[in-house]
Amino acid sequence: MRQNIVAGNWKMNKTLQEGVELAKELKEALQAQKPNCRVIIGTPFIHLTEVCKIVDQDLIGVSAQNCADHESGAYTGEVSAQMVKSTGATYVILGHSERRAYYHEDNAILKTKVDLALKNGLTPIFCIGEVLEERESNKHFDVVKSQIEEALFHLSADEFKKIILAYEPVWAIGTGKTASPEQAQEMHAFIRKTLAEKYQQSVADEISILYGGSCKPSNAKELFANPDVDGGLIGGASLKAEDFMGIINAF
Ligand code: G3P
Repeated sequence: MRQNIVAGNWKMNKTLQEGVELAKELKEALQAQKPNCRVIIGTPFIHLTEVCKIVDQDLIGVSAQNCADHESGAYTGEVSAQMVKSTGATYVILGHSERRAYYHEDNAILKTKVDLALKNGLTPIFCIGEVLEERESNKHFDVVKSQIEEALFHLSADEFKKIILAYEPVWAIGTGKTASPEQAQEMHAFIRKTLAEKYQQSVADEISILYGGSCKPSNAKELFANPDVDGGLIGGASLKAEDFMGIINAF
């Protein structure tokens, strides 16, 4: 179901105690001022159980930032989709550019992760996006389309409706160089057209497509005002309650 969403991606930040503190601050802020969007926080694995106990998940959804591409077994250090679900979390961020780059997650691996997430009742927040060189050589549409086709187009229409997409131009992540509202809308519209061509327009219109990449309280309203931008996946600005609330209140 398409909805306005502001999702935080804490990445590898916050001790357990700091994360619990931030979750409590957000809970209080959102109880005092009901948001006009769905709010999700993507925490490291170590926070999931505690944060799920603290927050009311009707108010704040809880997401992992990854899950394994195996059901269970001898995969030291890995955390399965079933384990994530057992913490109480109901979302999982997959395909983030940092995992694609640093941990060599390709579309085939991500296809398996998406299937395991859906099998275990998790909603994937699936990240796509081009690097600067691909944009500068005008390959960005082809890159994003292939990321979607190779990792997601095996899904049925009903399965695809469970996916949240996050377009994150890699050159805007953590750089302070936000994509312009026009650039974001152009790519989001292209993504939605790509979905409509594969499935039906009615399916494409049901998918939430978030923007990620240096989204801040100062630029969120202009980004979110675009017809195909359904919210944001927020990194740095999700680490402080005040900043994250500033983006949430852009709706
Ligand atoms: O997943 C969201 C993240 O990649 C965006 O990071 O710090 O540019 O908001 P940031």
